[in-house]
Amino acid sequence: MSDTSWVITVTYSVLTIIGVGIGLMVFRSTRVGFRVNTAGRRTLEKREGYWGIAVVAFLVVVLGGTILQVPYWADKGKEKVAQTVNVVGRQYAWTVDPPRVRVDQKTRFEVQAADVNHGLGLYGPDNVLIKQVNISPGVTQEFIVTFDKPGEYKLLCLEFCGVDHHLMQNKLEVTR
Ligand code: CUA
Repeated sequence: MSDTSWVITVTYSVLTIIGVGIGLMVFRSTRVGFRVNTAGRRTLEKREGYWGIAVVAFLVVVLGGTILQVPYWADKGKEKVAQTVNVVGRQYAWTVDPPRVRVDQKTRFEVQAADVNHGLGLYGPDNVLIKQVNISPGVTQEFIVTFDKPGEYKLLCLEFCGVDHHLMQNKLEVTR
């Protein structure tokens, strides 16, 4: 199993155990004869206040830690790149210009659809999906990739676009 699946498995197991525990506690509390030691009104209000502060603090930390990773503006603007590849999808082929780029250099992709909607899937030499964008006519999709190994990368169509959708393949050579 990969690292990610281990993390998911362990996290999910722990959460399940916690969830079952909470469920049992709630179940027990509904039984006749269950006693609860209730604090005074003032103490409860104070506790509630602390919980409120804790929740807001947690949300602020999560927001602060993740907001910069939101992709919406990451690829936008004209970030300086070493090379640009123009890709046009049409029934049933990809035009890739230029067909060869250099490894370890920031590469901007500008992807367009000439006729109908297509989905560009960019695959590495090991057939691992690197990037996927859906494209509609009239809109240019941009993204930046830095290829870390040379080889033959593949472009496949990932959105059904007609009878010969499966033939929509091309390649991009990444060289030293
Ligand atoms: Cu283009 Cu499927």
